[in-house]
Amino acid sequence: MSNNKLNIGLVFGGNSNEHEVSIQSAKTIYNALSHSDNKSFVVIPIYINKYGFWEDSEYSKSILFEDNKTTSMIENNTNSINNLSNLPKAIETIDVWFPALHGPNGEDGVIQGLFKLSGKPFVGSGLLGSSLAMDKIAMKSILKSYNLPQVPYIYLNKEDLLDKLFMQSFFRKIIKVINYPCFVKPANLGSSIGITKAYSKEELINGIKFASIYDERIIIEKNIEGRELECGVLGKSIMRSSVVGEVKFQTDWYTYESKYNQNLSSSIIPAELGSDISNKIQKLAISACKSINAYGLARVDFFFQEDTQQIYINEVNTLPGFTKTSMYPMLWEASGLKLEKLVASLIEIAKE
Ligand SMILES: Nc1ncnc2c1ncn2[C@@H]1O[C@H](COP(=O)(O)OP(=O)(O)O)[C@@H](O)[C@H]1O
Ligand SMILES: [Mg+2]
Repeated sequence: MSNNKLNIGLVFGGNSNEHEVSIQSAKTIYNALSHSDNKSFVVIPIYINKYGFWEDSEYSKSILFEDNKTTSMIENNTNSINNLSNLPKAIETIDVWFPALHGPNGEDGVIQGLFKLSGKPFVGSGLLGSSLAMDKIAMKSILKSYNLPQVPYIYLNKEDLLDKLFMQSFFRKIIKVINYPCFVKPANLGSSIGITKAYSKEELINGIKFASIYDERIIIEKNIEGRELECGVLGKSIMRSSVVGEVKFQTDWYTYESKYNQNLSSSIIPAELGSDISNKIQKLAISACKSINAYGLARVDFFFQEDTQQIYINEVNTLPGFTKTSMYPMLWEASGLKLEKLVASLIEIAKE
């Protein structure tokens, strides 16, 4: 490779429910980094299959660009190389890592730890911010300590279900601070998986049992009737926020089904809001990131209750969806930063 070109290790796929989305995100990032505006980058795609094996760049590229590669072919591929045995080779050639991974193992600090050990910079948050953003209980306790506005919540562990005394006081608290309907969520997941809206004590118990399939740590939140707004954050030493967008959906709440079915959801960019509210949201998005040490890129999601004008931070996503129709790149496009420039900025920020 020519000396002044940077080798970008684009890591995608992974053992996660968001495997397919990650492939789409990687395609978008690959194309943007290979655009004629970005002549200084050489992209090395690194596909992690559904079993967690890292593939060589040739095979990885075929996953991105050969439409006939079906999931079953992906799973049956025998050229898989165990990730740790494949690592040293990758480390030598890569100048900057660009994770296009979503959810557990990709977004929660695990792979960020590996990147850090490789001694090479990487796009997005480090270990701390990634893992705090992934764990809804940890994130909320930090937001609370910074007095940032969020929905009332309580949490428990799976094994607390067996503790009669604990559960009695838990249900008293539910009535006092949360009430019904409420949202029950596994602390560490995404894409609305494992989440239930519970309308009664019985549904709450079932919701806790359902969430505990996915995580030992479970969070229960007060239901907020409001609009769902999202704001992009970009930067490390200096953080900027994008215009605010809104998601609309046909389902009662933003479920897995409506998230991934374009007939059931849509986005409005920029959201129709007074400038005072959108300014507040843009500032809160940066404060939320700073509080948990998230940087590089993040999409911060909010609830906005119109009658009370109350804004609540819902969550910080440190590796938001990056497909052509994903909110994060669209928010930046609407803020005047084209996709090709956005990916180049992310690499510049990683090198800071
Ligand atoms: N407290 C709440 N009040 C109202 N709706 C909620 C609440 N919590 C979650 N939801 C609904 O569930 C969706 C997914 O919840 P979220 O916490 O964002 O989980 P995920 O990390 O899976 O995206 C939200 O986009 C929203 O539609
Ligand atoms: Mg969400």
